[in-house]
Amino acid sequence: MSVIWHDLECGAYTEDVALWRALAAEFGDPVLDVGAGTGRVSLDLARRGLSVTALDRDPVLLVELARRGDGLPLDTFAADAREFDLGHRFALCIVPMQTIQLLAGPSGRKAFLERARRHLVPGGALAIALADEMEPYEVMPGGPAPLPDVREVDGVVYASRPIAVIEEEDGFVLQRRREVVTLDGTCSVEENRIRLDRLDPEHLEAEAREAGLTLLRRELVPATAEYVGSAVVILRA
Ligand SMILES: C[S@@+](CC[C@H](N)C(=O)[O-])C[C@H]1O[C@@H](n2cnc3c(N)ncnc32)[C@H](O)[C@@H]1O
Repeated sequence: MSVIWHDLECGAYTEDVALWRALAAEFGDPVLDVGAGTGRVSLDLARRGLSVTALDRDPVLLVELARRGDGLPLDTFAADAREFDLGHRFALCIVPMQTIQLLAGPSGRKAFLERARRHLVPGGALAIALADEMEPYEVMPGGPAPLPDVREVDGVVYASRPIAVIEEEDGFVLQRRREVVTLDGTCSVEENRIRLDRLDPEHLEAEAREAGLTLLRRELVPATAEYVGSAVVILRA
């Protein structure tokens, strides 16, 4: 994904930040941030002096993250969350903002949970956010719609508007309309679809037990006007 769309669609979310800070204070560092994107959480923790490794499968996002984190105790690693091997262990591994629901079902989660456990020091913690159940909806032509996220960069305007949540048997498809208006007024539009696996905390906790992790507790991040709420499952190696 390009940096601008990632920033626009994920970068403004702040409701969960206090929880990641509190977990880092509780478990210490080094911290592994899985699905780190352009570093919304990684940069916040590194700015507080924690040593952070940001992992994402998208190297373009990580290049920007590294640029923003220049001089901070932060490194980046481009890899798939289901297949990584960093060669060292962490006190805390975090998976913010529903990345766990992007891993293509139970086999993807199993592979990730086993990798994560092997990357934790004994007693280290793995904290995973998962989105609350979403209400399906579809914006009709001319009908009411959620406000778009908008940003202007060098005179070019980028707008991303959620237009539908479509329920499938084992997941949800989130649809957005992305519009770009250039300096000469040219407008281009594309639709973007992201599929999230359906996953509730009980199910994830059972999968984590099978992967050798112990449930510590669950925390809740409340919904905001723009973002769904989430449950954060906190596990111990
Ligand atoms: C919803 S964004 C969250 C970004 C960031 N953690 C945040 O909270 O702002 C999901 C991120 O997970 C990454 N991602 C998706 N599937 C992945 C996978 N299989 N392995 C590693 N990263 C993945 C995407 O590239 C994207 O940056």
